[in-house]
Amino acid sequence: MPLIELKDLCKGFAQPGAEPLTLLRNLNFSLEDGESIAVVGPSGCGKSTLLNILGTLERPDQGQQFFEGRDVLAMDAPSLGVLRNQRIGFVFQLHHLLPQCTALENVLLPTLAKSSPLGPEEARERAESLLEQVGLSHRLQSLPHTLSGGERQRVALARALIHRPALLLADEPTGALDERNAAQLTELLLELHRVQGMAMVLVTHHPLQAARMGRVCTLEAGVLHS
Ligand SMILES: Nc1ncnc2c1ncn2[C@@H]1O[C@H](COP(=O)(O)OP(=O)(O)OP(=O)(O)O)[C@@H](O)[C@H]1O
Ligand SMILES: [Mg+2]
Repeated sequence: MPLIELKDLCKGFAQPGAEPLTLLRNLNFSLEDGESIAVVGPSGCGKSTLLNILGTLERPDQGQQFFEGRDVLAMDAPSLGVLRNQRIGFVFQLHHLLPQCTALENVLLPTLAKSSPLGPEEARERAESLLEQVGLSHRLQSLPHTLSGGERQRVALARALIHRPALLLADEPTGALDERNAAQLTELLLELHRVQGMAMVLVTHHPLQAARMGRVCTLEAGVLHS
């Protein structure tokens, strides 16, 4: 069974005073456990929209969507919340860390959900271990504003992986970083992908980063080409 399966998926948006915008046109896609893929395509083609659908943050207009064999579009909001919290990790272009919380507390945030499988001690151990893996064991108590952009993204990556998700979704995670930090974060993504074994979907505008993934897909005119 694939980790993700999309069948004949359609998504568009109404636009005031213009023809509706069609982003995904009968899109078919599947992703196996542990696979890594890059999604590339011109600005505005719908890459973030596709990622949001994969992360169950947005609903398609039509079609079928399965995650670990479960019919996502038949699930209610609380069940989707648990699915997102436990099975999917997100990293965006901006880190979205809570400014008043330390690096360690930010990584622990997802474990505060009632549905978290981690008890407080186990959660803390895993958070510390992840922060060590992203090279920040010396910054556990640092607040986000005292960290560099690259360091903040590394905290966000540790937070995304706290529940050992089956899927990591990364939407231009290096988009706000300089070249050196961008390359470092990409290497870290690949290293954690290798060690933790989660599947990974990376949206990027950098051909070199895309080429490091197992498969590169281009979103073009609503269709995903391998
Ligand atoms: N909620 C929404 N309502 C209306 N239009 C939307 C909505 N979300 C996205 N769009 C439009 O859909 C198109 C695709 O947006 P999306 O963010 O998915 O593109 P993208 O491929 O990620 O672009 P970029 O590379 O610039 O990040 C854009 O034209 C955007 O304005
Ligand atoms: Mg985008």
